[in-house]
Amino acid sequence: MQKPFPPVYYSDYLKLDQLLSAQWPKSDEYNMHAHDEMLFIIVHQAYELWFKQILHELHSVAECFEKKSVDEKNIGVAVARLQRVTEIQKLLIDQLRILETMTPLDFLDFRDILMPASGFQSVQFRLIENLLGLKPAQRKMYNQFAYHTRLSKEHQELIRKSEEAVSLFDLVEKWLERTPFLEFKHFNFWNSYKAAVDKMLDNDRKVIQTHSGLSDNEKNEQIKQLEKTRENFEAVFDASKHEQLVKEGFRRLSHRATQAALLICLYRDQPILHLPFKFLTALIDIDELFTTWRYRHTLMVHRMIGTKIGTGGSSGHDYLRITTEQHKVFTDLFNLSTFLIPRSALPKLPDDIEKNLGFYYGQK
Ligand code: HEM
Repeated sequence: MQKPFPPVYYSDYLKLDQLLSAQWPKSDEYNMHAHDEMLFIIVHQAYELWFKQILHELHSVAECFEKKSVDEKNIGVAVARLQRVTEIQKLLIDQLRILETMTPLDFLDFRDILMPASGFQSVQFRLIENLLGLKPAQRKMYNQFAYHTRLSKEHQELIRKSEEAVSLFDLVEKWLERTPFLEFKHFNFWNSYKAAVDKMLDNDRKVIQTHSGLSDNEKNEQIKQLEKTRENFEAVFDASKHEQLVKEGFRRLSHRATQAALLICLYRDQPILHLPFKFLTALIDIDELFTTWRYRHTLMVHRMIGTKIGTGGSSGHDYLRITTEQHKVFTDLFNLSTFLIPRSALPKLPDDIEKNLGFYYGQK
């Protein structure tokens, strides 16, 4: 029987000749062989391969969400792909341990030859950040220069385009704003939820005021904190308060999208909301794992070069420490937990709404 396709040879298929001949230690070029430079190159190349895979997954997720209406099947696919990204991220965090088998003294054998190259110039890393939705204005300046100034003209153009393109953050926001279950017709969900929140906060206040283990000062402090929480809740109900917080930079997600995301989290036990909940959770996971990677990389840089400036010319460890805090994208999704109330206090949905949110297979 004739085979339908010509045979494939492993090495050709994977272009191993190209891949395995792409390691050129600079220290050899200058006749000052440094054993660990091979590890340094391979670890960075492995990162770039995984970055390529992450971009492949994130672009496909963005494509699903570019459609006017995102069907349930696509959310399932998006969740699976985002979860693949998180598995890769865990590997990327672990991979730093391999690089740390190189000691700071080993690194010094070839570090100076690398100037001014740096992971700072990783274009794919920037494309990932921009595709997720990191805003240019949010970035920590690099010696008062924008993050792309150290790149070639061609790479700067790529980055500029990615800044202008629609990000995953934008797409998720639009998708949340379109969610139909915000309209409850005859049932005023937000009034019922507000009553439940007021009851919960009044109860918290009572607990603080009657707590025998707290001094008057401690009670006053805790009541002040509680009032801040109440103010935070008010923005959930009042669009103009929310938009004011957006203007001041305390919130990014629109009011309608925030309400939808909150509903998904509150009623995630309803079958139809399972997948949207998993999707939002996967975005939080991705943000958390990038933050973890950044922090882990910062620690490695500290032990590797102390407080010296980086090969790329930044303040090194200090610059990186700040990006860890400042370069998160889905902070608003993390903050949703502020507005969760116990299941037992959740307003009970009317039967017809609950039915619409459930799957009733086999029902006539
Ligand atoms: C010996 C190991 C390493 C050292 C000492 C190191 C050091 C640094 C330093 C000092 C910076 C700040 C920019 C600069 O001034 O150069 C930086 C940025 C960066 N490095 Fe590394 N790095 C190492 C390994 C890696 C690896 C394995 C990767 C994986 C791709 C990586 C990716 C990055 C990225 C993406 C940035 C930009 C971070 C940002 O701007 O948010 N680095 N690195």
